Amino acid sequence: MARAYGGTRAGASEAAAAAARQRSSGGLRPERERGDAKRRPPVDLPRRRLRVSSAFMAVLHVLTVPNPILSKKCRPVGPGEFGEELARFASDLAETMYAAPGVGLAAPQVGDLRRLVVIDPGNCTREQDDDGRPTNPRFLALVNPQVIEASKEMMIYEEGCLSVPDFEENVSRPRRVHIRYLDESGKPHQKWFEGYDAIVVQHEMDHLEGVVILDRVSRLKKGRYLQKRQKVRVRNDGSLEY
Ligand code: NI
Repeated sequence: MARAYGGTRAGASEAAAAAARQRSSGGLRPERERGDAKRRPPVDLPRRRLRVSSAFMAVLHVLTVPNPILSKKCRPVGPGEFGEELARFASDLAETMYAAPGVGLAAPQVGDLRRLVVIDPGNCTREQDDDGRPTNPRFLALVNPQVIEASKEMMIYEEGCLSVPDFEENVSRPRRVHIRYLDESGKPHQKWFEGYDAIVVQHEMDHLEGVVILDRVSRLKKGRYLQKRQKVRVRNDGSLEY
């Protein structure tokens, strides 16, 4: 399988590719993406750039390892915290995700330790009209998400993460998860996520526990990666020295 970086594409595991093929034929994906199942993006790096246009949205700075904030457990959003500020933050998080570009982003990745993640509806739960086009192209925000049931069947996917640049790792996770969450307005929902959608939501929920994909590899491999990153120095002109 081919690999590349820089927001273009990267390879998926055979299992994930098979799942994506199966799902493509099931009509869950937009028409224009069908037949392209082998070229599935890793979790945080889709090849197709999407934008949400709004003068009120802001692209936030995405933290990368070894920033200690990424290792912190996030706190639940309280009942009194729902409202305009939270909705705006969810929109900003989505805008940041699309700008990266990514298919999912968790609040701690922009330095906010509230239990909130956003996912890309284009890769997850977008409904389609008769022509296979999305009828509701909005992102999905999940506040205080909890797994209430998970399949025994596992799925391996080669995941990438915006907070762990230039790194991919095969991660095994349940193929289906039932998630309970609140939306930006505090309304409760329960939803099953399957295949790639399940991978994305579980990856983002890991961030709320202070876990990144780098925590799923051996200490040796993690150490090597961090050492390599810390050797990178930013020169005065903004270029990188290795
Ligand atoms: Ni991530």
